[in-house]
Amino acid sequence: KHNQKYRVGIVTLSDKGFKGEREDLSGPKIKSLLPTEKYEVVSYCILPDDQKAIEKELCRLADEEQCALVLTTGGTGFSKRDVTPEATLAVADRNAPGIAEAIRAYSLTITPRAMLSRGASVIRKQTLIVNLPGSPKAVEESLTYILDSMSHGLDILL
Ligand code: MTE
Repeated sequence: KHNQKYRVGIVTLSDKGFKGEREDLSGPKIKSLLPTEKYEVVSYCILPDDQKAIEKELCRLADEEQCALVLTTGGTGFSKRDVTPEATLAVADRNAPGIAEAIRAYSLTITPRAMLSRGASVIRKQTLIVNLPGSPKAVEESLTYILDSMSHGLDILL
């Protein structure tokens, strides 16, 4: 049953990245941290911090691309443009708060600023969607911490 690779979608949320004013290092960082024997990245894109556009892409990745996992990076903070958690919650069928809680709990041992990430983790149909913070450093810290347990969760979800 689980001998197929998980299909993964990566979405970077960044107004500057979308406009080409800043190179996205976080999306490629996510890809580099996923073991290729278990995960296949089937989609990667940069979007501006626009809630409707983010919702549309999350739905496309879940419903059409049939991703088992969607990882977002960026747009989880307190600025007015940060709407990734709102878009994620809007397309959710079920909450899966433990993953976001784990990211914050572990990240707080590295920096108190971790309390400023509002990232969510949810399930839409057969797809797990997890919001990671925006910097490559935060991506690396968060993803390496959740990876093993998340993969166990994906085994159960699929
Ligand atoms: N989590 C980890 N593990 N490491 C970090 O450096 N930075 C924090 C936080 N979470 C950080 C982290 C900071 S400074 C902010 S403002 C929030 O993530 C939100 O980041 P975002 O708006 O880029 O998503």
